[in-house]
Amino acid sequence: MVIPQHVAIILDGNGRWAKSRGMPRNYGHVRGAKNLEVICEDAWNMGIKYLTVYLFSTENWKRSKDEVDALMKLFRSYTKTCIKTARDNNMKVRVLGDPSALAPDLQESLKSLVESSRDNTGLNFQIAINYGSRDEIVRAVRRAAQDCLDGRLWPEEITEERFSGYLDTAEVPDPDLLIRTSGEQRLSNYLMWQLAYTEFYFTEVPWPAFTKDDLWKAIEKYNGRERRYGGVREE
Ligand code: IPE
Ligand code: IPE
Ligand code: MG
Repeated sequence: MVIPQHVAIILDGNGRWAKSRGMPRNYGHVRGAKNLEVICEDAWNMGIKYLTVYLFSTENWKRSKDEVDALMKLFRSYTKTCIKTARDNNMKVRVLGDPSALAPDLQESLKSLVESSRDNTGLNFQIAINYGSRDEIVRAVRRAAQDCLDGRLWPEEITEERFSGYLDTAEVPDPDLLIRTSGEQRLSNYLMWQLAYTEFYFTEVPWPAFTKDDLWKAIEKYNGRERRYGGVREE
């Protein structure tokens, strides 16, 4: 079995999962965050080296104030827990997205999460928070344009590779496998540049119920695909 080096996940379906149990949506988010900790460990034990998860999109601000507030509260406690988990499990954490719209204390916690885990050599764990692919590309273009204005970069020097270095995922290889839980089959503004040649796997299982076995099923399916570009197939 070939284990994909980098797996990206759109963890979807927290709300529907909770509703189907007669519980409030926010309960689904709490259980979803707990499950993320479990899957992180499972992924590493399976041999996955990079795991990138979508926690909050630039569009998610349009949800009710109650839900956004509850999510932000959850991210605060999740980030604090993650600082400990990263230390205990040797995880290196990166944050994708524009943190400037987040509350200052959350920005600080995220910064210390990234800084305290910088030298860790275990799972590379990317969390996308206030992330949107279009926003990421626009921010990258702005930085590249500024470098041109400042004389550090010539337009003709902008190659795909050079441009990738301006994205939030600089240093992170492109995902080999994308998983979206809970039935929807769309990208929702996730990693559009990076997923150019990624295999997609959709499952009906909602995120809080997604287990190691489901991850394994996705990897099996990935192994059955004929990959043309964007990855090496070891036999
Ligand atoms: C995913 O679950 C988590 C976030 C987007 C924050 P949803 O909240 O989208 O749950 P559904 O899709 O409404 O069931
Ligand atoms: C995508 O899920 C964003 C995250 C998982 C954080 P959504 O549930 O917000 O996506 P849409 O709005 O249904 O496309
Ligand atoms: Mg959803």
